[in-house]
Amino acid sequence: MINKLTASEQENVRALLKDITTGKAVLGKDKKGRPIIQYHEQLNWDVSNANTIARPGTDEDDKEKKTTAFLEMIESMKVEKRPRGVLLDGTKIELRSGEYREGKDFENTEETLGKGNIAGDIKVVYDKKKKIKHALKIILLSAFRVEEIQAWVDINESGICPQLYLSHLEGNSVLIHMEILKKAITLRDITDTHMDKLWDENQELPKLFSLYIFHKLLDTVQKMHAKGWAHKDLHAGNAMLQEQDGSLKVKVLDFGQAQDERDDLKGSSENISEDVKKDYADIVKMFSGFYTGDELIGTNMWELWKKKLEEMPEKDRLEIEEIKRLMDVQELKDRIKKKLKHCLNDLNMDEESFKKTVIQILFGESKPMTGHDYNVNIEQADGVDMEKFNEETKKMLELRD
Ligand SMILES: Nc1ncnc2c1ncn2[C@@H]1O[C@H](COP(=O)(O)OP(=O)(O)OP(=O)(O)O)[C@@H](O)[C@H]1O
Ligand SMILES: [Mg+2]
Repeated sequence: MINKLTASEQENVRALLKDITTGKAVLGKDKKGRPIIQYHEQLNWDVSNANTIARPGTDEDDKEKKTTAFLEMIESMKVEKRPRGVLLDGTKIELRSGEYREGKDFENTEETLGKGNIAGDIKVVYDKKKKIKHALKIILLSAFRVEEIQAWVDINESGICPQLYLSHLEGNSVLIHMEILKKAITLRDITDTHMDKLWDENQELPKLFSLYIFHKLLDTVQKMHAKGWAHKDLHAGNAMLQEQDGSLKVKVLDFGQAQDERDDLKGSSENISEDVKKDYADIVKMFSGFYTGDELIGTNMWELWKKKLEEMPEKDRLEIEEIKRLMDVQELKDRIKKKLKHCLNDLNMDEESFKKTVIQILFGESKPMTGHDYNVNIEQADGVDMEKFNEETKKMLELRD
């Protein structure tokens, strides 16, 4: 039959068979019984069919297997009295007989807060009894990692993330109800749409602001590490800058890749794990995104740095390697703080007026943009000019007063 297909169709069918037999893709059926293909990295539907009503084939074994699995689940729920969710904040959410249903207890509004990859859109919902809006993230069971909630519960009180209100299992999805971060923008939005405005205000502001964000990010992530969790998915879409009563805070979101480091992080800083190092490397990447306008995505930054470092005089090399190793985050933070002070002095600005300016530009009435490219001072032929980048970074983080 395959011979009746065109050469390219045959090639595609072979590729598909390969993906199915190697487990890269799964073949399923839609509601009308037509075959559909699901690639694991896309996960539009739940390939595991966990917590849905099974439809065993005519095969007796399959019937028995599914029935046993179903009854085991009921038994363990009964015996161990397993809950289907956990409410963490009863002041924002009102349950009814241990249930929280869309339409009855909360309404979906048309608003969305952001686009997710695995999770889909983050929606704004409304608790009918409490008359309060909050955010809802829905994750398919097949894509859900328990660490997302474990990490969140552990850091929930530390003020570095949106507050988790409730999580529960509904059908084949996990629903996460959380605080809406008000007056907050993702760092991605800032790099994409606001850096030019800072540049318009004062050409030194983007650099100052990059340092400021660098410091805040380190501080936030350090708090997460102190609780024993590595984030492992730090990028500009998973961090938000929030204005709260005149102060600015960096908050982290999305613990879908979080890793439990509670045993490792208890030890000395010498035992710093690869996951924690990755978090700091990701922060440097984001900083580089702000500072140079290029996040070095797709390039192995450390490799490029290593090559450049080898060519540098020893004194300079040691300074930059400090950033690279990032073993002593506290020291790095102190150094950035010091540098920030210097930059502010150069600009004849104090921290308060700097904050006010940034808040006005980022969260105030928007001003028309002149379309400047704030990072014109870094030449970018073919990606990033690493030599200049290193030079600028080195200058910026100079140790000496
Ligand atoms: N509590 C919140 N308040 C305001 N905006 C939020 C909140 N949570 C998420 N967002 C917005 O939604 C976007 C996507 O959220 P999130 O990163 O949690 O989902 P995701 O990327 O789909 O997660 P995953 O990678 O686990 O699939 C964020 O970048 C942000 O813009
Ligand atoms: Mg995300």
